[in-house]
Amino acid sequence: MEIDTGRLRLRPITADDFEAHARITSDPEVMRYIHDGALSRAQAWWNIARYVGHWHLRGYGIFAAVEQSSGDVIGHMGFLNPEGGRGFELGWALARSAWGKGYALEGTRALVAHAFDELDQRHIACVIHADNVRSIRIAERLGAALEREEAEGGKRLLIYGIVRPGRS
Ligand SMILES: CC(C)(COP(=O)(O)OP(=O)(O)OC[C@H]1O[C@@H](n2cnc3c(N)ncnc32)[C@H](O)[C@@H]1OP(=O)(O)O)[C@@H](O)C(=O)NCCC(=O)NCCS
Repeated sequence: MEIDTGRLRLRPITADDFEAHARITSDPEVMRYIHDGALSRAQAWWNIARYVGHWHLRGYGIFAAVEQSSGDVIGHMGFLNPEGGRGFELGWALARSAWGKGYALEGTRALVAHAFDELDQRHIACVIHADNVRSIRIAERLGAALEREEAEGGKRLLIYGIVRPGRS
């Protein structure tokens, strides 16, 4: 299961991605709105365990984003749908060195199409910290509409939704 977006190759994240995942999530700026700061290696391990497990439980999940030109893992993006959560969610995070190149939008656009066309989803939620301007921009460029706000642990979360076009 791979998705070629042109400049990126998206493939399911595996245990082999741990070092890249630990490196990317050790940057406090990358994790600022996701986790209130950097992940320790132990936290990154549990995080990737969660992502790998999600593929087994749901049949879809988080992809490693591989830059085609270098072969490097430059981030992760994909789907989470935990029991008791907000439904089918799309999330994304890139290493800071990969920001400003349009990779996040390129990858998430392909994932939105995949969710609607291959996974037969009708609605995709994006949960974004209200101060996370870059991610809000991505959600809006994906055609997401602000559906509601939630307060969680002193944070203001914006819940965006993308609805499958054309079909009910
Ligand atoms: C969210 C995140 C992935 C966004 O990164 P980003 O670089 O702003 O987004 P993109 O990869 O889509 O790049 C868009 C930028 O690249 C620029 N760009 C450069 N070359 C481009 C190209 N070939 N195509 C498109 N855009 C290009 C665009 O102009 C845009 O810049 P701008 O925002 O100043 O207008 C990144 O900030 C991140 O990883 N943040 C931490 C994790 C996080 O908060 N995740 C969200 C949880 S909800």
